[in-house]
Amino acid sequence: MSITEEIEKRKTFGIISHPDAGKTTLTEKLLLFGGAIQSAGAVKSNKIKMHARSDWMEIEKQRGISVATSVMAFDYKNKKINILDTPGHQDFAEDTYRTLTAVDSVIMVIDCVKGVEIQTEKLMEVCRMRNTPVMCFINKLDREGRDPYDLLDEIEEKLNIKVRPLSWPVSMGKTFKGVYSLYNQSLYLFEPSKSKVEDEGLKIGDINDPRIDEHIGESDAAQLREDVELIEGVYPEFDTKEYLAGKVAPVFFGSAVNNFGVRELLDCFIDLAPSPLPRETEERVIVPEEKKFSGFVFKIHANMDPNHRNRIAFVRVCAGKFQRGSNYHHVRANKKIRFSNATAFMAQEKEIVDEAWPGDIVGLYDTGNLKIGDTLSEGEGGMYKGIPSFSPEIFKEVINKDAMKTKQLEKGLNQLMEEGVAQLFTYELGSRKVVGTVGILQFEVIQHRLKNEYGASCDFTPINLFKACWIDSDDPKKLKEFVDSKSRHIARDKEGKLVFMAESRSWLSMVQDNFPDIRFHFTSEF
Ligand code: G4P
Repeated sequence: MSITEEIEKRKTFGIISHPDAGKTTLTEKLLLFGGAIQSAGAVKSNKIKMHARSDWMEIEKQRGISVATSVMAFDYKNKKINILDTPGHQDFAEDTYRTLTAVDSVIMVIDCVKGVEIQTEKLMEVCRMRNTPVMCFINKLDREGRDPYDLLDEIEEKLNIKVRPLSWPVSMGKTFKGVYSLYNQSLYLFEPSKSKVEDEGLKIGDINDPRIDEHIGESDAAQLREDVELIEGVYPEFDTKEYLAGKVAPVFFGSAVNNFGVRELLDCFIDLAPSPLPRETEERVIVPEEKKFSGFVFKIHANMDPNHRNRIAFVRVCAGKFQRGSNYHHVRANKKIRFSNATAFMAQEKEIVDEAWPGDIVGLYDTGNLKIGDTLSEGEGGMYKGIPSFSPEIFKEVINKDAMKTKQLEKGLNQLMEEGVAQLFTYELGSRKVVGTVGILQFEVIQHRLKNEYGASCDFTPINLFKACWIDSDDPKKLKEFVDSKSRHIARDKEGKLVFMAESRSWLSMVQDNFPDIRFHFTSEF
C-alpha cells in the first residue's frame, strides 16, 4: 500500500466528556462494532472496561480512577481507527489537553439528562484552539432527559459551536423508540440490549413512508415528521467543510450502554472525520505524505514495572513511516536515538510493531531521554508546535521533609514534571519551588510517587496564586525593567521560560494596565 493510501485509511481521534457521561461505555461499544471484541457480554466488556481504564500505575489501582491515557486501535470497513482515551477525572484535565494535541478529531459525549457540563466546556476550549473537528454524541436516550432542542441550543451557547443534527430521537426514556438518521434516511428501532449489536436500519428514503407509522405508531411518526421538517428548515444543510474546519458539530443521539446509535455514529465518522493532517513545526509545515518520519511525544507513562524505572513515551506519527530499530533524531537534545522495541496498541493488548504510519501512536520504551513535546525525526530539526502547557489552577510550595534526600527529591520532581504530572515553577529569588496543577489529586500522586519511586518525602503548603503567566515583550529593555520591578513574583518554568506569578485576577489586570509593553500568556506557547 502506498503512503497516501495508508494515510487515508487512518482516523485518529479522542473521546471526551464530563465524567460519567458514557465515554468508557462508548469506547467499548466502538471496539465491539469494530470487531475488536466479539461480544459485549458482561465478562468481556468488564475486561475491556478495565483495559480502557488503564491500571498501569499503582495509584490508579488504589483509587480506581482512570488516570492514564490509553490508546486503542481497530479496523472497521477498511479504515484503521485509533482511539486515544482520555482520563475522565477532571483533576487530570491537563493530560487530556495534551492528548488532544495528538488527535485529528474528537467525539464529545454528552449526557442527555445533564446536558453540557463544566468539564466539557473546558475541553471544547482546547479543541477550539486548534480548530479540531468535533462530533457530538448525546447519550442515555433510554433515560428521561432534556428536550433535544434545548440540548442543541445549550451546546451552541455553552460550547460556542454551531450544531447540525444528523440523527433525531423518536421520544426518549421509557417510551424511547429509536433514532431516525437524517444522514442516510434510515430508521433505527430501539431495543434495550447490552449484548446485541443493532441491525442495519430500516431504509426509508422518504420521511412520509407509511412503514414509519407501522413501526413507531402514528403519533410518534407525526411528531418525527414535524421534527425533521423543522430541523431541515432551521438548520442549514450539513457542510462537511465546515465540520472539518471545526465550525459546525454534527450531532447524533443514542444509548451507548444499549449499543444504540453507535453504528450510525461510527459510519458517519469514517465517512466524514479527517485523516491525518499537515502539522506545523518551528521551521515549516510538514505534510503526512513526506517520505521522512517525524512525530512528537504527547504523553509519558512511568512505572510500567516498579522494579525498573522504565517509562513509555507515546509518540504520534505525523509524517513518513516509522520503522522499529531505526535511529531517529531527538531534536531537543540534538542526538540520535535508536528505538528497538516500539509498541503498538491494539484493542486488548500491546504488541511489538515493525512500522507505523501517520496517525498511528507508537509506544517507545525510554529511560529518561524523552519528555512531553519532544520531536523525533529522520534528521530534520524544528520542534512540532501546538503542544503547550496551560497555566495551572492550584499552586503549592514544595517543602523538603528529609534533608538527607534532597537530591532524590530534585530528581524525582524533575522526572515527574517531564512526564507532565504537574508543572514546576522556581522563583528567581530564593529558589522556592512551586508545583502547579489542575486538580488537587496530583499532589497526592506526586507525594506517593516521590516516596515509592525515589525515596523522597515532601510536604506541600498552599500558596495564594491566581495564575502563572508566561511573559514576553518586543522590547527586551522593557521586559528586564518589568522583571526587576516585580522580582519577588518572577519564576522560571521547567524550560527556563520567564513566568509572572499573579496573585489575583484584579492585581493581574492592574499590572497589565501598568505595563502595556509586556504580554501575559496563560499558555506556554505563544
Ligand atoms: P465515563 O467513562 O464518561 O465516566 O462514563 P461510563 O462509560 O463509565 O458511564 C457512566 C455510567 O453511565 C455507567 O454506569 C454506565 O453504565 C452508564 N451509561 C453509559 N451509557 C448509558 C446509556 O446509554 N444509558 C444509561 N441509562 N446509562 C448509561 P455505572 O452505574 O456508573 O457503571 P456500570 O456499573 O453500569 O458499569
